[in-house]
Amino acid sequence: EHCKGVNGLERVILREVRGSSVEVYLYGGQVTSWKNEYGEELLFVSSKATFKLPKAIRGGIPICFPQFGSHGSLEQHGFARNRMWSIDHDPPPFPTNTSNRAFIDLILKHSEEDAKIWPHRYEFRLRITLGPGGDLMLTSRIRNTNTDGKSFAFTFAYHTYFAVSDISEVRVEGLETLDYLDNLKGKERFTEQGDAITFESEVSVDKIYLSTPTKIAILDHERKRTFVLRKDGLPDAVVWNPWDKKAKAMTDFGDDEYKHMLCVEAACVEKPIVLKPGEEWRGRQEISTVPSSYCSGQ
Ligand code: BG6
Repeated sequence: EHCKGVNGLERVILREVRGSSVEVYLYGGQVTSWKNEYGEELLFVSSKATFKLPKAIRGGIPICFPQFGSHGSLEQHGFARNRMWSIDHDPPPFPTNTSNRAFIDLILKHSEEDAKIWPHRYEFRLRITLGPGGDLMLTSRIRNTNTDGKSFAFTFAYHTYFAVSDISEVRVEGLETLDYLDNLKGKERFTEQGDAITFESEVSVDKIYLSTPTKIAILDHERKRTFVLRKDGLPDAVVWNPWDKKAKAMTDFGDDEYKHMLCVEAACVEKPIVLKPGEEWRGRQEISTVPSSYCSGQ
């Protein structure tokens, strides 16, 4: 289903027979809603999100490319999240299984305008797939189409905003004992101690966990729901919650909304991906939910 969304922006809605659905805006190539078969929203989108160019939509799954965060000379999180993507009607074969699945292919290509800030030619193909169990898979294929023989390097993240009942009741499993960079503390490397990650210290959390396992679980006790994130080609994982001070400073984010969201992002930040002309990179993130009685393990 292809229709107009907020402010007349084009969007596509994928539906699966049992009732789950996904909404995708061409602006940013961004997933802005993911609902389970009961119609419950699983992603967070701020009530103050602007849906107005050139600002990125606050919530859902923005794509950070060709730069994650401020790790480079481009604007924060790169430009892909505030560009108009197109529907790719004739994509080359993807390795993903699409039988029984609803999916949409999007494409973003270099433009004259972007070449001024990032002098490279590229094709970024994004397939968004909703599986029969309501699982949501994003597969990115990025190709270097430079004709001047030059390689390019980029960093990347699926900046996923999960909707949670109460951040102080949430725990993240799969990142314990790993090394991380702390965006709030400069370039130093730290090591996570002990148990699963929780959010009780009433401060902003902004960490990049390095070389993580391919599976991470986000347990929401109050809702008796566990999100399972699986990733491929993306060694790192970002965990972000702005907490109250940063929340107040963001114009497109409600003052108390930090209690109801958590970003866990499949990413590649520490070691940029380098592509020679003609080369292609693939990175996948799959998210699903299971009831909380589920006991996670690797
Ligand atoms: C996170 C970063 O991924 O995104 C944070 O680690 C950043 O440092 C946050 O504040 C939100 O970024 P933005 O540009 O969408 O406000």
